[in-house]
Amino acid sequence: MTDPTTTNSGAPVASDQHSQSVGADGAIVLTDHYLVEKLAQFNRERVPERVVHAKGGGAFGRFETTGDVSAYTRAALFQPGVETEVLVRFSSVAGEQGSPDTWRDPRGFAVKFYTSEGNYDLVGNNTPVFFIKDGIKFPDFIRSQKRLPGSNLRDHNMQWDFWTLQPESAHQVTWLMGDRGLPRSWRTMDGFGSHTYQWINAAGERFWVKYHFRTNQGHDILTQAEADRIAGEDADFHIRDLYTAIERGDHPSWDLSVQVMPYEDAKTYRFNPFDLTKVWPKGDYPLIPVGRMTLDRNPENYFAQIEQATFAPSNFVPGIAASPDKMLQARIFSYADAHRYRVGTNHAQLPVNAPKNEVHSYSKDGAGRYSFNAPNVPVYAPNSFGGPHADPQAHGIVEGWHNDGELVRSAATLHPEDDDFVQPRTLVNEVLDDAARDRLVANIVGHVSKVTIPELRERVVQYWRNVDETLGARVEAGLPPILEPAETFLPAPQSQVPAPVSR
Ligand code: HEM
Repeated sequence: MTDPTTTNSGAPVASDQHSQSVGADGAIVLTDHYLVEKLAQFNRERVPERVVHAKGGGAFGRFETTGDVSAYTRAALFQPGVETEVLVRFSSVAGEQGSPDTWRDPRGFAVKFYTSEGNYDLVGNNTPVFFIKDGIKFPDFIRSQKRLPGSNLRDHNMQWDFWTLQPESAHQVTWLMGDRGLPRSWRTMDGFGSHTYQWINAAGERFWVKYHFRTNQGHDILTQAEADRIAGEDADFHIRDLYTAIERGDHPSWDLSVQVMPYEDAKTYRFNPFDLTKVWPKGDYPLIPVGRMTLDRNPENYFAQIEQATFAPSNFVPGIAASPDKMLQARIFSYADAHRYRVGTNHAQLPVNAPKNEVHSYSKDGAGRYSFNAPNVPVYAPNSFGGPHADPQAHGIVEGWHNDGELVRSAATLHPEDDDFVQPRTLVNEVLDDAARDRLVANIVGHVSKVTIPELRERVVQYWRNVDETLGARVEAGLPPILEPAETFLPAPQSQVPAPVSR
């Protein structure tokens, strides 16, 4: 005999088949509170989807620090031999919750480390760089990748219009149009913290770091044709792949390494080391091994543990801090704000988001409050009654950086090699092999052939010529003519649109 069904309040339920009605054929009644509860609960099953990275999946596992980076950070989780539980959520960026996993897009790679000193979230992507350098551009960038307001269609004109007007996007767009835009599975791709972060060691010395997770499953990609086919056959291809691999005991793992830059180097480095559109060449700052992350446990409830998971770049722990990267600073505001809206004020109390160490917070009340302090804990600080106290030493002696200047709105001070096209050019010519370069050209041509405005196509070709003359010429030669009258639903481009310039 199975358990009797109950209402949410625990009372036994008479039927899940028949509403109460006035006679078998009569009207249903409001006093059937179980019917009301059932319908009302159903109406409230959804929370807003993430404004970006809405489609994703994830799993739990562990991170083990096998290297010794204690000279660079005092963070407890990165001390030799320490093992930390993790939750990882992988995602695509622009598509909505039901969108196919195999649309060309960067992939999110968000890690929550449940450390002994609080949760540390590293919310990265499968690419080491990003499209823009300043968070004030993020809403515009995302809208250009999502849907037109009238038709609700995605639009290649918008996408390429934005990218070509922001030449700083060239490095990330080169990655996106290349193989990283279509990983075969989340298990076969790398992950990056992307930003430059700050590490502080036990002596209070500061360093700049970049994180690299390298897959142990081997890199594997989909061709555009495969991805298009799979998008129709199995929209959840990547969720299925991760879930079934873990279920059959094939636990994916990634090795984490960091590049470490001494604090003082940043001032004189040949390009701005806090520019999110740049990588640090490994010849300058080699990879230092940190440890291994293994995913071995599927969620038991997708909604409770993945949809309601909240990853925030503001979740730092002692020994790890922010940097002068303007994108990172914008993100430090944005995520926790999104979480209060999307999941609720007390999202951090949900089991998947709650830290494993004790919380001694003065925050109180709010919708959905679940845990609370003992009644004798004061509700204000400072106090004379033994309430929790802030500890100025907790985050190290110095955490931050020297800053001095007027309040301005301007790009970061130029370093000698702060050019938007140098690194994508190196990527095309020195990192990709012939086959990968051919796929890059084919992917760009395929994508840009859906650009239907002649002036815009010319700008796109120039953008790729700026990356590399031969690449631009190959793209131009490959583009089919615009056959149909422009079907963009956008107004004609304005002539005062500035030509793309690099900086
Ligand atoms: C998700 C904002 C740049 C990676 C999100 C969300 C917001 C957001 C609001 C949804 C959060 C939620 O509802 O839980 C921004 C802003 C950015 C920015 C304002 C620029 C200033 C980036 C960059 C990366 C990134 C540079 C990677 C290096 C992610 C990932 C997620 C995400 C992986 C999904 C996290 C998850 O799985 O829950 N972003 N983002 N974002 N973002 Fe960003």
